Amino acid sequence: MPLMSDVLASFLSSHKAIFEDYLASRLAHYSQGIGQNPQAQPLVDALAYSSLAGGKRIRAMLVYMAAKACQADNAPSAAMTDTAAAAIELVHCYSLIHDDLPAMDDDDLRRGKPSCHIKFGEANAILAGDALQTLAFELLANEGDGSAELRIALIRELSNASGANGMVGGQAIDLAVVNQSISYDELVNMHALKTGALIDAATHMGCLCAGGNSEQAQALRHYAQAIGLAFQVQDDILDIEGSSEQTGKPQGTDIAANKPTYPAIMGLSEAKAKAQSLCDEALDALADFGANADLLRSLASYIIQRSL
Ligand code: IPE
Ligand code: IPE
Ligand code: MG
Ligand code: MG
Ligand code: MG
Repeated sequence: MPLMSDVLASFLSSHKAIFEDYLASRLAHYSQGIGQNPQAQPLVDALAYSSLAGGKRIRAMLVYMAAKACQADNAPSAAMTDTAAAAIELVHCYSLIHDDLPAMDDDDLRRGKPSCHIKFGEANAILAGDALQTLAFELLANEGDGSAELRIALIRELSNASGANGMVGGQAIDLAVVNQSISYDELVNMHALKTGALIDAATHMGCLCAGGNSEQAQALRHYAQAIGLAFQVQDDILDIEGSSEQTGKPQGTDIAANKPTYPAIMGLSEAKAKAQSLCDEALDALADFGANADLLRSLASYIIQRSL
């Protein structure tokens, strides 16, 4: 089976470039003021370095794909999908900067380049993460043509998924359980929070932008929960089996840090079987969608086959 279906490859090649341009233009716009100040130049450079150079952009693409799957004729705002895609990706980029810090995973390589704190120093990396996070919400408040109600719904979704009840809470658990053995359920809960929450938010935000109905929203939640967990299981597998040249990250760091990952707890072959069954579960969740959800279907398969 090819790694990526033709339909997915062609969607990514067109939409990723458009998205990158949009994100770059918004970052330039919102950095204009502080960019006048030479003392803030390292911060401004760090923002661009960690948000514009590299990354698969899976979460942004999920916003567009979920919007396409829901595609109501009277969609409240197609233009808000760009804003929602940029916002989720900014939160993700911030999470990666902080994830690599010495106090967290202490990783020196990200997206094939020195991590933000290696390049710009720890303080600038912390501040760049803070600024990318707040920019996400600034965009949702200001950009696009959505109604106030839609903007609030998007902000509610992203803030909930990003904070202590989502990604940040999962990261706290991830750090607390180093050198500890945890139960299978605790592992699944940690993955669902640290990685699943933003993936779930991405699909839900796409659904909101496209005016999806509640059945579609619920089915997409189920899809996202499955691929969100599968995404982190595959990330954990790649930490063991992947190559640093392909992932752009240091390899073997989970074992070196004695992190309880899916393969560490269940074994490698069980982890691969779990990734496959989660992919099947994600496809089942899309049963009531037509061809408009084919991109989401292809993405589920890609997530568990990817090598980067
Ligand atoms: C890495 O995410 C962090 C995890 C949640 C596993 P990605 O693999 O999506 O990272 P980029 O954005 O493509 O670099
Ligand atoms: C990170 O998980 C999840 C985040 C919320 C950033 P990992 O620590 O496994 O991600 P990588 O492997 O460093 O990208
Ligand atoms: Mg981590
Ligand atoms: Mg990490
Ligand atoms: Mg990892």
